[in-house]
Amino acid sequence: MAYAFCLDLSVQGHWPNLLKKPINLAAMLFFCNSTHNAYLTEDDSSLPRDIVERQQEKTFVGSVPYDRIGADTRLRSLYLWDPLKEFIRLVLGKTELHRFADPLGACSVNVFVDGGEHGWHFDESEFTVTLMLQAPEKGGAFEYVPLVRGAAEEKKIVQNVLNGDRTGVHDLPFAAGTLLIFGGQQTIHRVTRVSGTQPRLVPVLCYSEKPDMKNSESVRKLFWGRTGKASIASQALL
Ligand SMILES: [Fe+2]
Repeated sequence: MAYAFCLDLSVQGHWPNLLKKPINLAAMLFFCNSTHNAYLTEDDSSLPRDIVERQQEKTFVGSVPYDRIGADTRLRSLYLWDPLKEFIRLVLGKTELHRFADPLGACSVNVFVDGGEHGWHFDESEFTVTLMLQAPEKGGAFEYVPLVRGAAEEKKIVQNVLNGDRTGVHDLPFAAGTLLIFGGQQTIHRVTRVSGTQPRLVPVLCYSEKPDMKNSESVRKLFWGRTGKASIASQALL
């Protein structure tokens, strides 16, 4: 499977309308300002300090969770649009594909404000679908080293990447309107530090071969500050 597939969705300039008044959402965002290892697993203090699993990367990113994206919004309509799901299934060569059942992470919007960044990591899910909606003024590069997980020298490559080695590092240009299908479980990746007043906006659409898939509770706590088990009185925000 290709590790990335891009599709230009900027047809007739309709894509900017997927979000309305994104700046007004700032107060409703949950900001993750934390550290994590490249595998997004809990730190195990019983392990030696110098192994890659104990090295911490910094992440500062806001996210609008799925239960805060209004039922009548274009973004939710796009996520629930069966032809898009079918298109992604065909691109990935899967026999079946399902939307996530995660109340927070099924479809969310990553918001990188001034100082925002997402440290090197592998995703929990096999692949991730994102929509490049708005580029920041400066920074916010999507960098990746493909097909690292499972490689013979995986830990050595990860160590080198975390140490700043640029060998094999690619930079995917941010072209607003691009739908990206990305194999983030095998490909280590990051978003470099953003600066300026215009936030980097990237909706994340999650699908899985298996039905009823959810993010782990630790990932939900990391990115949205809660597990989503308790219902909240949400309103149409996007
Ligand atoms: Fe990721």
